[in-house]
Amino acid sequence: MPSADERWTAVDRYLTELLVPPDPALRAALDSDLPPHDVSPLEGKLLYLLARAVEARAVLELGTLAGYSTIWLGQAVGPRGRMVTIDIDPQHAEVARANLERAELGDIVEVRVASALDALRGLIADSAGPFDLIFIDADKANNAVYLELALELSRPGTLIVADNVVRAGAVAEAESEDATVQGVRRFFDLLAAEPRVTATAIQTVGAKGYDGLALALVL
Ligand code: DHB
Ligand code: MG
Repeated sequence: MPSADERWTAVDRYLTELLVPPDPALRAALDSDLPPHDVSPLEGKLLYLLARAVEARAVLELGTLAGYSTIWLGQAVGPRGRMVTIDIDPQHAEVARANLERAELGDIVEVRVASALDALRGLIADSAGPFDLIFIDADKANNAVYLELALELSRPGTLIVADNVVRAGAVAEAESEDATVQGVRRFFDLLAAEPRVTATAIQTVGAKGYDGLALALVL
């Protein structure tokens, strides 16, 4: 009997082979020599479908890494769309820019090197919003602050998506000493209390283990 993890991985592979056609630019982003914290192919396509479903033309992403989810979202906004993606690490940004060029998204996607906090404040100061979809996938300890600022860059109908909100189940541990768990819990406290959004979250399993996504619609 395969372990639960082996079955999650096998099902991820099965569904990915059927539903996510190979794409050389996406493959190259996954093969970049950076930490393997990209979203899975099925999650990448979920981001793409969500962006298409809300007809997103302006997308903001916090946490670029190699640009794998960036490419999915950039493909969704189309040639007349625009996207800003933020990463604090200049090496991530350099790798992502090359991957976005390969995906022919270099003209659509701007990669900014900054902390998510500084970048959000800058975008607000520049009146760069509203964005139609905002993907929060940076350092999880600050997730609540990112949500608060993301709301300043939103309009009614903006979809806010946050990655890694279950942390292998640790999110249910109120007494956790893990700063990322406490950050995600503050994020959920804010979501629950914030009258400007209605939200849900789903747990996910797959090749990336056990985690989850939060979705919030701005009212
Ligand atoms: C980590 C970050 C991510 O965004 C992710 O999807 C998985 C893991 C991490 O920092 O450990
Ligand atoms: Mg993530």
